[in-house]
Amino acid sequence: MAVPQRVQDLLTPALVLDLPQLRSNARLMADRFSQQGVQLRPHMKTHKTVEGGEIMTAGTRRCIVVSTLAEAFFYAENGFDDILYAYPLPFDKLDRCAELAQRLELFQVLVDSEAALAELKKHPLQGGRVWHTWLKLNCENGRAGIPHSDPAALQLAKAISQSESVELTGVYAHCGNSYHCSGGEEIKAVAQATTTATLQFMEKLKAAGIHGVKSSIGSTPSCSHPVPDMALLSEVHPGNYVFYDIQQTLIGSCKIEEVAVRVLTRVIGHYPATNQLLVDCGWTALSLDGMGRLPTGYAVIEGHPELKLLSMTQEHGKVEPVSGKLDYEKFPLGSLLSLIPYHACATAAMHPVYFVQSEGRIVDTWTPTRGW
Ligand SMILES: Cc1ncc(COP(=O)(O)O)c(C=O)c1O
Repeated sequence: MAVPQRVQDLLTPALVLDLPQLRSNARLMADRFSQQGVQLRPHMKTHKTVEGGEIMTAGTRRCIVVSTLAEAFFYAENGFDDILYAYPLPFDKLDRCAELAQRLELFQVLVDSEAALAELKKHPLQGGRVWHTWLKLNCENGRAGIPHSDPAALQLAKAISQSESVELTGVYAHCGNSYHCSGGEEIKAVAQATTTATLQFMEKLKAAGIHGVKSSIGSTPSCSHPVPDMALLSEVHPGNYVFYDIQQTLIGSCKIEEVAVRVLTRVIGHYPATNQLLVDCGWTALSLDGMGRLPTGYAVIEGHPELKLLSMTQEHGKVEPVSGKLDYEKFPLGSLLSLIPYHACATAAMHPVYFVQSEGRIVDTWTPTRGW
């Protein structure tokens, strides 16, 4: 189907990206860390597209993080290299990982247990190649990784570095707890705590005679409000910043003007009996992420702080005023509303194609990879 030239002519619901804003978000993050002499290794999980990866790597197609093996293959097939699959090593996919490790200049995996190391040793690479691994450290960040102060972490690092078929390439911590912050100062406190814990672990490695290991931390909040000590790290690995979203504005990572993603929806029903509008955006176009977190419901309705996206079913959304009576004349059937999503990664994951706009004109379409 032909893509219209103007945003307002798109069939809805549609995910629309603001290209100049997206480029600016990418450039700001890249500049921030290149000035510090820290390598930016952007995460691809938010958009999962070649074009987004191209912009985030400033055209190098090198040095990225992915969250699924499907992404790893997709980027490899599109000329990307130096790929870090930052997910606890999935034993069912080891043969597929080996395929990439044999094919790429640098394919790297995450290790967080002796069992994972044993599994890699059972599957040695051919032709003198070694597995490049990053030790996943949990610096009180929640979710995955070995607790940084657990002697098992150093033990595992030693075991990896003594192995012939596996190399300890780096130490990886993801400050997921920065998502519980409110404001720059709280974010900086998490960034500092994670950096300090990671650097202390690096010192322990050196004391154990393990040298030449990289260190990487990051999340969009912490990399949007970095602390000076982060300049002592080798790398950072944020991803969401290229789009940003309402969640990031609430945490304090960005301003609402910096959010580069929207879901366009149309008014498809007037229901004065319930004081509501029906729109053609259900959870298949927005996701249910953020439920109950916003006074305006599941999203912010751009230019209409008086409206709330109250609820969604699979293909329908109900909009009502935050208070008072709805003025239906302002929202005729067929008129457009622009939703700023709560969580860009979850919303983008619902769409088979993204429409890319600049100054109201559609300039491109991007097709993400899907699956695991
Ligand atoms: C392991 C890992 N690294 C990096 C990131 C990127 O962080 P953010 O989404 O805050 O940019 C994520 C996000 O979930 C992650 O899980």
